[in-house]
Amino acid sequence: MRIPSFFGVGLALILLAGATTPAKRDTAATIWKDIENITTCTGCEALLVTLQALAHLGNDAFSNVITEVCILAGVEDSDVCTGVISREGPILAHDLRQMSVGSHTAQLFCNTIFGLCPFPSVTPYNVTFPSPKPAKTRPAISGKTPIEVVHYSDIHVDLSYETGSSYNCTKNICCRPYTSADAPGNTTFPAGPYGNHACDSPVTLEESMYAAIKEIAPNAAFALFTGDVVEGAVWLVNETEVTNDLQNAYGKMSSLGKVYGTVGNHDAAPVNSFPPTAVDTTITSQWVYDTLSSLWETWIGSAAAATADTNPGSYSVLYPGGNLRIISINTNMYYKENFWLYESSMETDPSGQLAWLVNELQAAEDAGERVYIIGHMPMGSGDTFYDGSNYFDQIVNRYDATIAALFFGHTHKDEFEISYSDYTAQTFSNAVEMSYIAPAMTPTSGMPAFRVYSVDPETFGILDMTTYIANMSDPTYQASGPKWTRYYSVKEAYGPLVNPPLTDSSAELTPAFWHNLTVVLSSNQSAFDEYHTRKSRGYNVGTCPGDCVSNEICQLRAAQSQYNCVTVSPGINFKKRNGEDVAASATDGAHRDSCQGSQAKSILKAVMTQKDIKLEVERRTNILAKRKMN
Ligand SMILES: *[C@@H]1O[C@H](CO)[C@@H](O)[C@H](O)[C@H]1NC(C)=O
Ligand SMILES: *[C@@H]1O[C@H](CO)[C@@H](O)[C@H](O)[C@H]1NC(C)=O
Ligand SMILES: *[C@@H]1O[C@H](CO)[C@@H](O)[C@H](O)[C@H]1NC(C)=O
Ligand SMILES: *[C@@H]1O[C@H](CO)[C@@H](O)[C@H](O)[C@H]1NC(C)=O
Ligand SMILES: *[C@@H]1O[C@H](CO)[C@@H](O)[C@H](O)[C@H]1NC(C)=O
Ligand SMILES: *[C@@H]1O[C@H](CO)[C@@H](O)[C@H](O)[C@H]1NC(C)=O
Ligand SMILES: *[C@@H]1O[C@H](CO)[C@@H](O)[C@H](O)[C@H]1NC(C)=O
Ligand SMILES: *[C@@H]1O[C@H](CO)[C@@H](O)[C@H](O)[C@H]1NC(C)=O
Repeated sequence: MRIPSFFGVGLALILLAGATTPAKRDTAATIWKDIENITTCTGCEALLVTLQALAHLGNDAFSNVITEVCILAGVEDSDVCTGVISREGPILAHDLRQMSVGSHTAQLFCNTIFGLCPFPSVTPYNVTFPSPKPAKTRPAISGKTPIEVVHYSDIHVDLSYETGSSYNCTKNICCRPYTSADAPGNTTFPAGPYGNHACDSPVTLEESMYAAIKEIAPNAAFALFTGDVVEGAVWLVNETEVTNDLQNAYGKMSSLGKVYGTVGNHDAAPVNSFPPTAVDTTITSQWVYDTLSSLWETWIGSAAAATADTNPGSYSVLYPGGNLRIISINTNMYYKENFWLYESSMETDPSGQLAWLVNELQAAEDAGERVYIIGHMPMGSGDTFYDGSNYFDQIVNRYDATIAALFFGHTHKDEFEISYSDYTAQTFSNAVEMSYIAPAMTPTSGMPAFRVYSVDPETFGILDMTTYIANMSDPTYQASGPKWTRYYSVKEAYGPLVNPPLTDSSAELTPAFWHNLTVVLSSNQSAFDEYHTRKSRGYNVGTCPGDCVSNEICQLRAAQSQYNCVTVSPGINFKKRNGEDVAASATDGAHRDSCQGSQAKSILKAVMTQKDIKLEVERRTNILAKRKMN
């Protein structure tokens, strides 16, 4: 999921630091206007120059100044300022030192972080394929007795969750005794034993979900886990914790039988930090790959584990029970918040993962295998760079007859994305591939959930998808524990709505079916509202009329991020979760980003009455620069 990383702290300062009329800064109103007036691309690029100067004074200088001013201005709690910037500041300083203002990278940085410069168009690049696309199509279903496959995601288990501690805190996740007032016995907002929407998952919830999976799908062939084990208190998370969290969580998963996992953006420290091999740095995530590959080995064997132990942690392995290859990729190589990607000349294929994927798919095609691709971040989401997303989708299109489906998580929402061979003229007949995006177990953005797919044992095509949830609004939830119940099945809920209806239990949910469903959702508001409710499993649903509907449909039809209609508006990246943020996300539809803009504004408003941040950063930078010269 997305998090209050440097985006939520340092960047508030950076945005404010751009206020360029220091003469008039006595009233809150003036400063607020100043802030609004710097929201231009040139304003952002000018600001990069100041920040570069600070970064050239060294990582410590950079982190210290930003931390001090963050605390002074009260942008976040001081422990959050200190923890987040000490972890992510050095990566950002590394980027800034080698970024040239006006470059593609600088424009991307200003866009993805501030929503200022326009997103630069995709740099054209044709992925090289060993052989031309054959005249093959997706195989027809075999009609044999289906098997079951489980899919769950974003468990975000908080081993420091404390029953009785406050669920109403100043941080993005609560249910920990951050202060003595938050401690059990001292708070009037005591968290129950089985979780809270303001907190990441307690172990009790995790164990209850695995028990439910075993009860509901005892004969499942295998499970897919699409990443994000670690909780969201990112200012405290370090290598020791991530290693421990991964060992603990994967240890518990072993009760499920065979599990295929993938690396999430939270499964590292600092969060999102996955340097591609070509980046010149002493900071490494090799320990993440070491840990994951040794935990995965029991399911994927030693050869695939050895591949997973090399940067960037991807693997390819044959499922022993059938003609299916599982390919797990590290989507952090295309993630906007992996700061290591903002290299002076951005790489087309970070860590060579796309070339590796092509080789694996070619071998699978040659051998007549079916393939599932699993990853954490959906490749058409608003969090994905346009370039990487485009190149990846070229590969998906080339091997669309071999790839049975793709599986992701990250958004915490129950949703999907369709790949097309022509995004400018989308129809059921050029819909080529499906990305299944699983809802999260962590309750922060909806009821805890998992899915069970009904799957053709020969083609591995998806015949149906059933979602199970634990309803935290049930008045007996905390007293008697989560009750996992069947929420809906795609074929039951949507099959009758498409034309012709798709209700036969042995029929496949093809890309054409999903496209046809989006046609229904865009024209039948009641069907859309049901879809929209299911997206967060009935939690904080809000309304989604008009543009919200078309934006949502646009995202569902975009496995390439340049087509997803997500607009980045200034200040959108603030993630601090409080009452207001939850309310905002409830009405988000596909437009999560613009809704988070209101959250950004509330943080900026809080800062507005404080000292002029730009002057403070400049003043401190000048002092350090002079000290260095003397
Ligand atoms: C901000 O911009 C608006 C219109 O561009 C202008 O009217 C206003 O005076 C500006 N505010 C400040 C404080 O410069
Ligand atoms: C990619 O391939 C297309 C079709 O063959 C061609 O028109 C285009 O120029 C190529 N683009 C690049 C960047 O090589
Ligand atoms: C959290 O506490 C504040 C202040 O005591 C209160 O106004 C607010 O309603 C509480 N929020 C929740 C979710 O209980
Ligand atoms: C509860 O608050 C009191 C007074 O601030 C403090 O002395 C005590 O240690 C707190 N209890 C816990 C468990 O932190
Ligand atoms: C990680 O954090 C924990 C808890 O704050 C601390 O005990 C541990 O020493 C830290 N580990 C490292 C390597 O800094
Ligand atoms: C969850 O429980 C509440 C309270 O019983 C109920 O109103 C709501 O409809 C339930 N939600 C779902 C998705 O079943
Ligand atoms: C999709 O809709 C078209 C009509 O628009 C229909 O011809 C086609 O059979 C449908 N396909 C599926 C799989 O529902
Ligand atoms: C619209 O969707 C609802 C389900 O929400 C369904 O009952 C209704 O029949 C649909 N209307 C049409 C015209 O298909």
